[in-house]
Amino acid sequence: MTALRDAGERLSREELEDLQLERLRETLRHAYENVGFYRAAFDEAGLRPEDCRTLADLSRFPFTVKSDLRDNYPFGMFAVPEEQVRRIHASSGTTGRPTVVGYTERDLDTWADVVARSIRAAGGRPGHKAHVAYGYGLFTGGLGAHYGAERLGCTVVPASGGMTARQVQLIQDFRPEIIMITPSYMLTLLDEFERQGVDPRSTSLKVGIFGAEPWTERMRGEIEERFAIDAVDIYGLSEVMGPGVAQECVETKDGLHIWEDHFYPEVVDPFTGEVLPDGEEGELVFTSLTKEAMPVIRYRTRDLTRLLPGTARVFRRMEKVTGRSDDMVILRGVNLFPTQIEEIVLRTPGVAPHFQLLLTRQGRLDALTVRAEARTGATAAEREAAALSMAAAVKEGIGLSVGVEIVDPETLERSVGKIKRIVDLREAK
Ligand code: DLL
Repeated sequence: MTALRDAGERLSREELEDLQLERLRETLRHAYENVGFYRAAFDEAGLRPEDCRTLADLSRFPFTVKSDLRDNYPFGMFAVPEEQVRRIHASSGTTGRPTVVGYTERDLDTWADVVARSIRAAGGRPGHKAHVAYGYGLFTGGLGAHYGAERLGCTVVPASGGMTARQVQLIQDFRPEIIMITPSYMLTLLDEFERQGVDPRSTSLKVGIFGAEPWTERMRGEIEERFAIDAVDIYGLSEVMGPGVAQECVETKDGLHIWEDHFYPEVVDPFTGEVLPDGEEGELVFTSLTKEAMPVIRYRTRDLTRLLPGTARVFRRMEKVTGRSDDMVILRGVNLFPTQIEEIVLRTPGVAPHFQLLLTRQGRLDALTVRAEARTGATAAEREAAALSMAAAVKEGIGLSVGVEIVDPETLERSVGKIKRIVDLREAK
């Protein structure tokens, strides 16, 4: 039988921290010596890599933010000669230049290892078939999942995103145990199974590994129930590696264990940048511990979560990400995340799990409308009741008056990858 833990997962907490410090010091040295940006930033802060003597000393070092990557477009953040870079990924970004990331051969190897570890923690085993429906290409989802699944010893079906009818056909014919996909695209597949008259509970799938976007406990409930699978969360971001930075273990489903032997987490106050104690919510910050091509020092993810002690593994956990500071809508002084609306949509009878948030401006005031889809067969009275109860739930739970519009089944655009929940119709921002 294949071991259910690799060497990193068998470390004691003390051994792990020793390893982290050793790797951290090496990473700081590597970044300082080989990346002009880090050298300038450390010099300006009056720090040398050797000044990091304990893990806590990291907090003295400067942050890195997304615009630093853009400013050094395309390869200015690389710490190795270009010919040692084996792969490049990039995120399109909504504005301006894309963010470019690079991997050496050893980085690709590490990445495959952490994704293999993630799939195993999710319940995947060698010999399973893994249907990968994350997009292949510059996005890290498809290829990241792909090489990790191969590393574990799975048979990979590189479906990528899109062509939904064919995805259903492939799942029926190839009989995979594992699916790796965004939660919103899984809902699109769900509709397609039903459209083709196939009971989604009857498939070969046992485990779904969902990530690349925030999703809620209620969405887990919905997916597990409708598909009869275990649904677990995978987290990552291209700047730090791609998928496989943290993974929820199927035996506990209690948040995501961060693969701390490769990625060192901190949670900071998003406004002051001060490091917060474990357990307090703030912005997640990562320092890579083993990356060669593009080490990142204190990279601010803008993802909000908190750090919790390990359970199924020695590594600390992060709570499911509630949202990104970028996705937060501030309306009349109240902060709102799309996941809060997802919770409400999913518990409202007569409404399908598809919704959008429309931001408009009426005079000088911003307004929000929740546009949700009726379930097939819902009557006019049920739709009316759903609109009223959702508006009341938003008012009561979040403290905001919003409009609710219930539209006909199958009218909202479906996700084939990361879903965009917010439609901003305000002109001048
Ligand atoms: O989304 C990597 C990935 C691919 C992760 C496939 C998991 C599965 P980026 O395109 O760089 O990389 O986007 C990273 O997506 O900062 C989060 O805001 C969000 N995100 C990723 N995973 C989760 C998750 C990939 N499990 C950004 N829960 C991150 C919530 C997530 N948000």
